[in-house]
Amino acid sequence: MPNQSATINVMIQAARKAAKSLLKDFTEVENLQASTKSPGDFVSKADLRAERIIKYELEKARPYYGWVGEESEEIVGKDPTRRWIVDPLDGTSNFLHGIPHWAISIALEHKNEITSGVIYDPIKDECFYAEKGNGAWLNDKRLRVSGRTKMIEMLFSTGIPFANKPGLSTTLTEIEKIMPKCSGLRRDGSAALDLAYVASGRFDGYWERGLNSWDIAAGIVIVKESGGIICSLEKDMNPLLNGSILAASDKIYEEFSSLILT
Ligand code: IPD
Ligand code: CA
Ligand code: CA
Repeated sequence: MPNQSATINVMIQAARKAAKSLLKDFTEVENLQASTKSPGDFVSKADLRAERIIKYELEKARPYYGWVGEESEEIVGKDPTRRWIVDPLDGTSNFLHGIPHWAISIALEHKNEITSGVIYDPIKDECFYAEKGNGAWLNDKRLRVSGRTKMIEMLFSTGIPFANKPGLSTTLTEIEKIMPKCSGLRRDGSAALDLAYVASGRFDGYWERGLNSWDIAAGIVIVKESGGIICSLEKDMNPLLNGSILAASDKIYEEFSSLILT
């Protein structure tokens, strides 16, 4: 069993509380699938409710920390060196379509570095978490990135820009380079879970651009603590600041990044 800090326990508890509310709302969305009414409004309320729960729990435990959440205003805390970075629901369009693949993502940043992260998938009851220097875990199991060494046996994941988001043709060119060399590619619709799946060896690598800090903050520390490598798609940039990311097992990082980054 991992030796967890009080802080990571607070983060996990907050994620679990929000999960209860989201699971109730997800059942409603599933019921709405066959109707002609769009569940869009309903889902944005579910999102807000979840964020409020997380914010309340984290502020109660650590009142001096700052806050960055997808659904609310940024807060600079009395302790300006620490802040939470939270996506209360990552995988919104899966949620909206009744697809059971979405997660809650909570990260703690200290002096511009992510030091703790929790990604909780309530449908599968999978809690991925890590603290700097303390390894990465899935529930009570230690995580390691994939041990596969041959690219042709590897599975990758990406995000494809939709609805006029920039970068579609670049991503399609990258996909063309990767596909003949690997055993498959997924577009699963949750950046947080994509990173958690690299950390757990389910995916060998992942890349995406156009993201926000809350999509990837928790995943970054979880991948690093499971022995994986993270970089931005732009040379020498911080993925948290420019929202473009590549994550890979240590075995394939060189080959994969040389394909994608050129
Ligand atoms: C989205 C998901 C998706 C990614 C999008 C994100 P949301 O987050 O992570 O996988 O491709 O760019 O915006 O909107 O579901 O929180
Ligand atoms: Ca997100
Ligand atoms: Ca979200």
